[in-house]
Amino acid sequence: MSRGRREAARGKVVEMKNIVILISGSGSNMAAIVRSARREGWDKSQGARIAAVISNRADAAGLVFAREQGIATAVVDHKRHATREAFDAELAAAIDAHQPSLVVLAGFMRILTPGFVQRYQGRLLNIHPSLLPAFPGLHTHQRAIDAGCKVAGATVHQVTSELDHGPILEQAVVPILPGDTAEKLAARVLTQEHLIYPRAIAQLLPRL
Ligand code: GRF
Repeated sequence: MSRGRREAARGKVVEMKNIVILISGSGSNMAAIVRSARREGWDKSQGARIAAVISNRADAAGLVFAREQGIATAVVDHKRHATREAFDAELAAAIDAHQPSLVVLAGFMRILTPGFVQRYQGRLLNIHPSLLPAFPGLHTHQRAIDAGCKVAGATVHQVTSELDHGPILEQAVVPILPGDTAEKLAARVLTQEHLIYPRAIAQLLPRL
């Protein structure tokens, strides 16, 4: 008899910690999280599972990977909504269908309304490709190069209503090398994103 059935037979309700990941594009962070969970088993060992991947773009390449992995996918197209509030309401409905303990923004390129952020307060994570609080917003790599920074990096943080702010869970630092372009630096930072995002999630799960 499985653990779930055994505990159900004893009248104990076993709740899975569902993780919902939001993407907009290539989804390499999402894939890194899925691969890390499969490889290291930190999801199963903590009664968690990656329940769904949701994209605001139907052509997001990451959706193909998620489907191949047998993960439920959904598309909530922001262009079909006149306001951010209307989009966020449909997005929240798609997320809540999976009763998530954790919502993970992984290259999700939409600004979320305060109401949405509040709904998932304490269980909404983001990764940003800079050493926050430096360089919130777009074009972080070019801005770091232009500022003459010697290091750059990535940050996993809890989401608050202020863009790219909130309690920091993990950071990684990479050097900025002579002759770096934004593309070269982005690629170097991305390899670190793939390491720190799964780690941050695995470490947060016991507290959810
Ligand atoms: C990452 O650099 C992430 O930090 C930023 O957008 C990029 C998305 O990459 N927000 P991917 O979709 O996870 O490949």
